[in-house]
Amino acid sequence: MKKQIFNPNPEFAKDARVGSMDAYWELQNRAIEDYEGFWKDFADEKIDWLAPYDKVLDESNAPFYEWFTNGKLNVSNQCIDRHLADKADKTAILFEGDRGDVEKITYAQLSQRVNKMANLLKNKFGVKKGDRVVLYMPMIPESAYAMLACTRIGAIHSIVFGGFSAEALKDRIEDAEAKIVITADGAYRKGKPYMLKGVVDNALSQGGACVDSVLVVKRNNEATEWVEGRDHSYNDLIDAESDVCPFELMDSEDPLFLLYTSGSTGKPKGVQHNTAGYILWAQMTMEWVFDVQGDDLFWCTADIGWITGHTYIVYGPLAAGTTTLMFEGVPTYPNAGRAWKMVQDHKVTQFYTAPTAIRVLYKMGENEPKKYDLSSLKVLGTVGEPIDPPAWKWYYETVGNSNCSIVDTWWQTETGGHIISPLPGATPIKAGCATFALPGIMTEIIDPDGTPKEIGETGLLCITKPWPSMIRNVWGDEARYKKAYFGDAVKDGKPVYFSGDGAVLDEDGYITITGRMDDVINVSGHRMGTAEIEAAVNKDDSVAEVAVVGRPHEIKGESIFIYIVLKDGHINDDIKSHINALLSSEIGNIAKADDIIEVPGLPKTRSGKIMRRILRTIAKGEAITQDTSTLEDPSVVGQIEACVKG
Ligand code: WT7
Repeated sequence: MKKQIFNPNPEFAKDARVGSMDAYWELQNRAIEDYEGFWKDFADEKIDWLAPYDKVLDESNAPFYEWFTNGKLNVSNQCIDRHLADKADKTAILFEGDRGDVEKITYAQLSQRVNKMANLLKNKFGVKKGDRVVLYMPMIPESAYAMLACTRIGAIHSIVFGGFSAEALKDRIEDAEAKIVITADGAYRKGKPYMLKGVVDNALSQGGACVDSVLVVKRNNEATEWVEGRDHSYNDLIDAESDVCPFELMDSEDPLFLLYTSGSTGKPKGVQHNTAGYILWAQMTMEWVFDVQGDDLFWCTADIGWITGHTYIVYGPLAAGTTTLMFEGVPTYPNAGRAWKMVQDHKVTQFYTAPTAIRVLYKMGENEPKKYDLSSLKVLGTVGEPIDPPAWKWYYETVGNSNCSIVDTWWQTETGGHIISPLPGATPIKAGCATFALPGIMTEIIDPDGTPKEIGETGLLCITKPWPSMIRNVWGDEARYKKAYFGDAVKDGKPVYFSGDGAVLDEDGYITITGRMDDVINVSGHRMGTAEIEAAVNKDDSVAEVAVVGRPHEIKGESIFIYIVLKDGHINDDIKSHINALLSSEIGNIAKADDIIEVPGLPKTRSGKIMRRILRTIAKGEAITQDTSTLEDPSVVGQIEACVKG
């Protein structure tokens, strides 16, 4: 059946940066014909170069690609200083707290605060170019100041999402060998204070000897132990610092930040992004995909602890000189109208959130958006997982009044910015479909040997040419970078980037993402490796063997489904709650199992490999279609099915 097409609003398209599919193809064909020329034009137009680069793309050490070799720039200049001439009084960050407190920070004020913080890091804590700084922060403006202060002095930040546990924080601190942690006493969520600094204390009591200092921003007066000599109050120290801190000249390929993300094997990987390519694409996608212009007010509901928050709360909006809304709370508190009230109060023009949030808001208040004036909205975005047609329809009709373009943006921590997305003034949209690769991005859906898939056939979603904002390395582990991203597919004999996702093309060339093909699951838009979850469950002494799969979930997209084989005895509530306690202490509260099922054994091949596909099928409650005859013990499949059916 042909899918319905939703054309861009013609009024919007008239003024959009890319206003038609012809304009899209003009850009994309230019990139196909002269790839480096395409990127050179945009790099020259968008970046405030402090010294020119001498090569656009260096592929000589593939897959360690380099962009804009030897160019010099500074990201805090790109996001702040260069705007001061004409945007000093424009609001850079509009902050709304959980309890409704609002603060507007102009570009001039942002400049002062970032300069002061940069001076504090440099003068008081001796942070130098190349040092790693871990942030364990809530959603408050100081988090953005800290990020930008790092970029100003050339330090590499590594933000750890505030929902991760002390153990997970410690691992990330140690892997990055950070010398300082920036945190807050706590923050507010659903009207209540919660604590963050205590988690840092806990992490540092277990390890993290590399850390000399902890800088604590005051938000909610949650008391913690104060370790003399190690802990310092941001609020007590900041006033004394000068608001002039000259920025470092950074090389195009100097590391900008690390962000840890889960993969299919082992511990989370420190995804390394470098300076020029990342900021260029953050700004370009902000301008193309959200089409921010003039006095637009852009609201991305992500947390800065994820790549979405990095690129589309802080770097993209500020590089584009727009106003970014930063929200401490959750869109469902104090009621299901909170998000819509904020859109109305602040006249939000672009709203960007995850399908899981859309489903929650829909469930809590289907008619809630109608109570507010949402006429300021022009573009609605989604990210993180495929959006199901009912959620899409509600977003389009009820939130967007059938007037806004919906941009379903596919990308990853590793891609730095959007890769596949509609352009709001150009792309005729099909619900639930990420549509086309953005101009300059070359995606292909192929077999591991590079053979293109036929229409309607799922294949490996690969990016076959390097792009400026791509991951540069797994921190400290070049072999892992090569294996994890360039080890699965080749094209014309050359390894190409495989995303881990499957995708399919339709007869009109539209791309639909089908989901992960590896052992990564996506719970409420949070990416988790089954290997990580299994390692945590294995810490329970009663567990002999464990296998984790994702199971489709109405709200969360996927939920964690755990199969365990016990050493002896049978599963009971104590074991289940101990396993969930382990998940929360080893990973964080975002990892909670919906199902923990005891089974007599796991389906294994004769070489001992667990057949997770069979386990996924059983968890879904579907009939087994896989060939089970190659299993060491095929009878175990029926037994597992019986256990799941209970
Ligand atoms: C994985 C990346 C990119 C920011 C948020 C997540 C899934 C992401 C979509 C989309 C279908 C999507 C993929 C991808 N994903 N966006 N629009 N449609 N799936 O970043 O934690 O690095 O996760 O999220 O499976 O590989 P991340």
